[in-house]
Amino acid sequence: AEVIIVPSAEAAGSLVADEIVSLIAAQPNAVLGLATGSTPLPVYRALSERRDEMDLSKVSGFALDEYVGLPASHPESYRSVITREVVEPLGLNPEFVHVPNGALESISHAGDDYEAAIADAGGIDLQILGIGTDGHIGFNEPGSSFASRTRVKTLTEQTRRDNARFFDSEDDVPMHCITQGLGTIQRARHIVLLAFGAGKARAVAGAVEGPLTASLPGSSLQLHVRATVIVDEAAAAELR
Ligand code: F6R
Repeated sequence: AEVIIVPSAEAAGSLVADEIVSLIAAQPNAVLGLATGSTPLPVYRALSERRDEMDLSKVSGFALDEYVGLPASHPESYRSVITREVVEPLGLNPEFVHVPNGALESISHAGDDYEAAIADAGGIDLQILGIGTDGHIGFNEPGSSFASRTRVKTLTEQTRRDNARFFDSEDDVPMHCITQGLGTIQRARHIVLLAFGAGKARAVAGAVEGPLTASLPGSSLQLHVRATVIVDEAAAAELR
């Protein structure tokens, strides 16, 4: 991967926003892969400040993941988060922005449905990624197959603890999620992984320089022909 060290998360946000602005200028029907969590927020903020420079009417988006069994209307469902942080501030067409369906009734086919929707859209042009402290990307926790497609996974204790800040307590964090697989992510034409802060340094080093291993799902990016890793100094601290 190409590694870019930036002074701040804000600097990373404007760098990625530049990339997206030029992508959309070249390709008005671009398909964006959208991460949730704290990391991509500076990108979405920078993009919303530049929304007058772009025609976003044909842009579509695919979220990485969703909690299983949390109503879509729950404020912390990734459907709600994507609506609040991306669709509304950017003025995207909500019909073009997809989130895996975490409803229990349709969970048996939700993964295949999502893969089909991505294929119908022509595949993801630019995938924004964060990384978990345990090296997960999307919700592909350690042990995930490099070939995996969108499917249901169990969240690790570590991830539920990390995400407890969005809920009243750790017990309220769902146990299961539906996530794009490592194989799904691998097929995006350009991957941009962002990480900020010392808590991510080990995961970043493992993803960029460590052995290819399912124990650190982010290491699968080493197989990608066009992966860009944008980190601040603290998250870069364990790179050689
Ligand atoms: C979010 C996602 C996760 C997060 C990761 C880091 O859609 O799939 O992989 O990117 O858990 O989360 P933050 O950015 O909150 O540190």
